[in-house]
Amino acid sequence: MTTIENRPGSGKPGEARSHGPSVQQMMDSDTRPVPVALRDHSYVYTGSADLSKTRYTSPAFAALENEYMWKYTWQVACREEDITKPGEHVVYDVVDESLIVTRQADGSIKAFHNACLHRGTKLRTDNGRVASFRCPFHGWTWGVDGSLADMPCDWDFPHVTEDPARTCLPEARVATWAGFVFVNLDPNCEPFETYASKLIEHFSNSFDFENRYTAFHAMKEVACNWKVCMEAFSEGYHVIATHPQIIEFTGDANSEYSIWPDSPYVTRFINGFAVQSPHIKDKLSPQQVVDAYMAFSARTPRGDSGMKVPDDANTREIIADLFRQGMEAGMNADLSKVSDAEILDAILYHLFPAFAPWAGIGQSLVYRWRPGRTPDTCYMDVWRLAPIPKDGKRPAPAPYRELRLEQSWKAAEDMGLLADVFEQDMENLPKVQMGLKSTGKKGVSFGNYQEARLRQVHKLIDKFILEGLARDGRSRSEVEPFLVPEG
Ligand code: FES
Ligand SMILES: [Fe+2]
Repeated sequence: MTTIENRPGSGKPGEARSHGPSVQQMMDSDTRPVPVALRDHSYVYTGSADLSKTRYTSPAFAALENEYMWKYTWQVACREEDITKPGEHVVYDVVDESLIVTRQADGSIKAFHNACLHRGTKLRTDNGRVASFRCPFHGWTWGVDGSLADMPCDWDFPHVTEDPARTCLPEARVATWAGFVFVNLDPNCEPFETYASKLIEHFSNSFDFENRYTAFHAMKEVACNWKVCMEAFSEGYHVIATHPQIIEFTGDANSEYSIWPDSPYVTRFINGFAVQSPHIKDKLSPQQVVDAYMAFSARTPRGDSGMKVPDDANTREIIADLFRQGMEAGMNADLSKVSDAEILDAILYHLFPAFAPWAGIGQSLVYRWRPGRTPDTCYMDVWRLAPIPKDGKRPAPAPYRELRLEQSWKAAEDMGLLADVFEQDMENLPKVQMGLKSTGKKGVSFGNYQEARLRQVHKLIDKFILEGLARDGRSRSEVEPFLVPEG
């Protein structure tokens, strides 16, 4: 199965690598200086024991995640551009929690618990703009700053009105980064700045993410656990079987995966493009690689390279140049200093638990995952962010679209070529969820390198669950069968 060309490392688990150039080697021969962030790579062996598959299927484990992880982690709620005027708001729902994330008169952003302080009615069910938040049931009303503005028959509630702590809508923590609004339901949470430190450092050094606007945003319900869905977008290992149409120009098995011990909530995956897959035994000519990529790609208008590619050509240079020209025209920008890596490669960051922005130049995809109504479903959001046009005028964000379980991503207009690739991914997911319930498969087996980031996410989930249990005076033995085994 393996070939002698693969690199076994020293024999320690996690050190073996595919043959073919590493991502760092590809960057060594980049025709431009590569951003410092892309040179910052790090791998940590996270273990190889099977995980309990109940982590994906059990309502009891989902309840532990809901109680101890989702309420204690930073999650992306919306884009800043979604709430530009006072009172404009987005309703962010996660599991049984709901927040109203809204712009204040002074330009700041607050996130209020979306539940009436009378008998609990959800105050807002839709995004929009209001002058105040009025409960539809008996009419208790709060200003956009969260202070009580009106209470019909207030003579009947002196026990409430005399206590200011009982009249203001409780708030969640809020942070903004790169045009996104993050929330955390835990008032004592770690600051976003340290929680996301590697993400913040890399993007501020190397990627212009501030000057983007939402060119596309859709959310789809998917028939699998949120982790099954997220994991399908977190490794390049599945390319050979799921997306074989791209292997002539995709360095899939030689992708790079990073985990940084000093910023454990941030991981990264880089898939080098414009090189052939290590899975293809025979060496393709540069002409074949370039033609295959051009035939697939929508990034140049021509559809194929239309050029004679010399046998000693650097395919990354050639394709990056073609893309660079196309992107310069589209963006009306000078990209002559932008590295081939930023033009070509899939650079996908992940912020625990479920936020994943692509880095690079031009348009960027961003993913988010949330649990569904049962462990067997979830919600996945996809944003496409585009650079703000040269005239500096920020276009209005594209309308938000919701897709039901049975709808295809192709139903979302403007998703373009990507919808086909997404549908290939989506076809696997219900099968994974069904297979996990088979008694013949006892646990989930992750690769030591390519799937180490997946294991890292599971270990962090356990960290939050164990901290929560300790806070509540509950015993670890209650959850032991679910936990990621040591080793
Ligand atoms: S439940 Fe909201 S005013 Fe009564
Ligand atoms: Fe995929």
